[in-house]
Amino acid sequence: MNIERFEDDELLSAALATRVLESIVARPTLVLGLPTGRTPLGLYRELRERSGGNLIDWSQVRTFNLDEFAGLDPASPNRYRAFMQAELFDHVSIDPANIGFLNGSAPDLKTECRRYEDAIDQAGGIDLQILGIGANGHIGFNEPADGLCSHTHVAELETESREANAQWFGGDWRNVPERALSMGMATILNARKIILIATGAEKADAVHGMIEGLISTRLPASILQVHPRVTVMVDRGASQRLSG
Ligand code: F6R
Repeated sequence: MNIERFEDDELLSAALATRVLESIVARPTLVLGLPTGRTPLGLYRELRERSGGNLIDWSQVRTFNLDEFAGLDPASPNRYRAFMQAELFDHVSIDPANIGFLNGSAPDLKTECRRYEDAIDQAGGIDLQILGIGANGHIGFNEPADGLCSHTHVAELETESREANAQWFGGDWRNVPERALSMGMATILNARKIILIATGAEKADAVHGMIEGLISTRLPASILQVHPRVTVMVDRGASQRLSG
């Protein structure tokens, strides 16, 4: 894994935005895998600000988000889709038809998971997958467990993950759905290039385990060690347990 350290979240976000925008300029048909959450907020702010006024042509870019809650009302502002519209999609010249998203209100969630895998395949696979990491080492909604799912699947959420999402649900983790749809480990590992971002001291243990620990399904992000092209971008807090 290639480790890049930054003084703070702002510098990290600016550097990552530069990399994403350069990738789009170099390859206008880029297929991007995207996360939601607190960590990528700075990235999306930079992408909005630096793509404005059609400075960057997003019209052929395709995106696939990692995950979505199951069972929320299609009009719910808590859907990850609504988050992505507000933080990025509404502000850049992306073609709505090129936005790949899991539908957590689909009548048959398993069929929806298969549709998503097929859509990623038909797009030619993900060129650049951006990831966050949970304090328990999860990526997407691939939670620590004795076994992990390979492909897009319905995930039962751990209390810790529901607590981490409580801020979007009036501060009460019991309002956070119990299930979500998520890309699986193979879906993520099939990306040609992966950049994982982590900020804040609460991620330090997970980052340490992911990079310096053994590969374990108990720390799903550690499985990224087998991928040949992973960059981990960390701020001072998230890197404080790394040796060297
Ligand atoms: C969300 C996702 C999650 C988050 C993780 C960290 O799409 O994939 O795995 O990346 O929960 O969330 P934040 O950034 O809020 O700490």
